[in-house]
Amino acid sequence: MKLWQGMLSGELNQTADQFNASFKIDQRMIDQDIEGSIAHAQMLGQTGILPQQDIELIINGLNEIKQELENNSLDLDPDAEDVHTFIENELTKRIGAAGKKLHTARSRNDQVSTDLRLNLRMEIQEIKQLLQNYINSMCSMAENNLETIMPGYTHLQAAQPVTFAHHISAYCMMALRDLERLQDCKKRLNSSPLGACALAGTSYPIDRQLTADLLDFDSVMQNSMDAVSDRDFVLELNSVLSIIAIHLSRQAEELIIWSSQPYGFVKISDDFSTGSSIMPQKKNPDMAELIRGKTGRVLGNLIQALTMIKGLPLAYAKDMQEDKESIFDSVDTIKICLEIMSQMLATMEVNRDKMLLATELGYLSATDLADYLVKKDIPFRDAHHLVAELVDLASKEGKTLAQLPLEAYREVSRVFEPDLYEVIDMKNIVMTKESLGGPAPQEVKRQIEWVKQKLKTF
Ligand code: ARG
Repeated sequence: MKLWQGMLSGELNQTADQFNASFKIDQRMIDQDIEGSIAHAQMLGQTGILPQQDIELIINGLNEIKQELENNSLDLDPDAEDVHTFIENELTKRIGAAGKKLHTARSRNDQVSTDLRLNLRMEIQEIKQLLQNYINSMCSMAENNLETIMPGYTHLQAAQPVTFAHHISAYCMMALRDLERLQDCKKRLNSSPLGACALAGTSYPIDRQLTADLLDFDSVMQNSMDAVSDRDFVLELNSVLSIIAIHLSRQAEELIIWSSQPYGFVKISDDFSTGSSIMPQKKNPDMAELIRGKTGRVLGNLIQALTMIKGLPLAYAKDMQEDKESIFDSVDTIKICLEIMSQMLATMEVNRDKMLLATELGYLSATDLADYLVKKDIPFRDAHHLVAELVDLASKEGKTLAQLPLEAYREVSRVFEPDLYEVIDMKNIVMTKESLGGPAPQEVKRQIEWVKQKLKTF
């Protein structure tokens, strides 16, 4: 039976009925719908709006439904309009008239916003946990690779040597900010709309603070029209998840590059790779590609939600029913991506020799070599020029800078001495970059400690 079957016949055109229904999507909030209804019923009892015997029937009935849900014995009606209708009809089937009283001083408008907030609050908790696992696994990787020299890039052109730990530590920082953003989003989400009713509150003597407390909300939303119209929390979570997706996508892109043949910096484990049906030698980084690819749907979901809301007059409009599918999809997508990424990183092999070789072949000591000349009183612009000459010479001879003999250096400038070879040693270079935030092993160790301390605050 339709909850709104008042002056209408309740007989919708069959296609319209299906078009109108949202149960397939919003049944995901069934636990929260029951929880919210129990809190509402308790409030109706305590304020004397409904007699205690009705409240007992209602709460027992709802608990019975919850029990059956838990042991998978509840039959979900595929034709139900939405989760709120389903639960109310189910309750009324069991306890009769008292079930029909549950909706006193409530509307589906405040109910749906309550359910969604409770549901997303739980999901935020889960995503936070997954982010924490991801950061922890990156911290261990970084600790094991404090001295693993690798090329750092700008424009994807080899730039200066860094360490693998330094690179991973950069992703830890991003993920920490993601955690903060989730936390922050939860602050605004965790306010109770329940009791706003359809839009204009109610003349029943309800106690909104009581339901808010029972449902563990931090506060009560202060304006009933805002309470039923606001979907900022959905937009915010969509945005935060989009930023997480983008971070994961950048990292996935790097894994794809690093695992390609010319690089060979990492080997993604077989558990996270696929082969080709035709090329026997192939090992494809499909999981990383999927993480990169799924970013598209997460960003699409954000745009969908923003666009859906942008022209809606206050208060509720049915457009808002379209807020759920996309945010649920983004939640699920980010959860699986975080899980896959953490495991893929933890099982990946790092090829230290290849990374080091790439720094030599990329002439990544050039900047430090120029600084060497500067210390011998050559103006930086000239030093830059002289080193470019040396790099050119080495590359023409197929050599690294370390392989060029001292005479070659002295032909370019008489100030070169044998100590230049220590200056262009990649490990020495990295060791000297101990400014705060830099790649020196001691400094990255400090960064990782900082990350771990921060993690404890969540
Ligand atoms: N299924 C609806 C939604 O998700 C519930 C709210 C219905 N309210 C209404 N006035 N028709 O938005």
